[in-house]
Amino acid sequence: MIFERLKQKKDRAEKIMDLEQQYKIIEFKDLGDERGNLVVIEGDGRDIPFDIKRVFYIYGSDPQVIRGQHANRETEFLLVNVSGTSKVRIDNGRESRIIALNRPRMGLYLSPMVWKDMYEFSADSVLLVLANRHYDGAEYIRDYQDYLTELRKAEGHIDE
Ligand code: TYD
Repeated sequence: MIFERLKQKKDRAEKIMDLEQQYKIIEFKDLGDERGNLVVIEGDGRDIPFDIKRVFYIYGSDPQVIRGQHANRETEFLLVNVSGTSKVRIDNGRESRIIALNRPRMGLYLSPMVWKDMYEFSADSVLLVLANRHYDGAEYIRDYQDYLTELRKAEGHIDE
């Protein structure tokens, strides 16, 4: 009985991820020369861990706007402010961090099930997003309480 409980505790601990393991800041190389800068992002493990299936970009958001406010069950993302700046607040239900996207060679990789808010867009902000999956509204969690509930279920704290 005691061993069973200890095993359950260990299984739960293994499912709980540190936020540190769920994001990565990547510095891309500049292949530029006297003609200007050139930054290349190749998928499939070359520059970023995933194969790129979707690209979108966000611009013209006012500084007071908060975008995102969701987690994705399946999708991995790579965010780059190719122009201007913005901030991303990432959260895994236990820890949160604010990351400033402030240079065109900096990429923020996010694994699935990270809650994210994007905000403080500069007037010239162009936020480029690469994703490993096509858009599917059903894999978005847009309610923070639902997000927490799903995390706790996955961690085995709540019985179905
Ligand atoms: P939304 O997820 O609210 O954008 P953000 O994460 O920047 O806050 O998306 C806005 C609308 O665009 C919403 O109706 C879904 C749609 N959409 C797509 O159809 N495909 C996509 O790849 C994305 C990101 C959004």
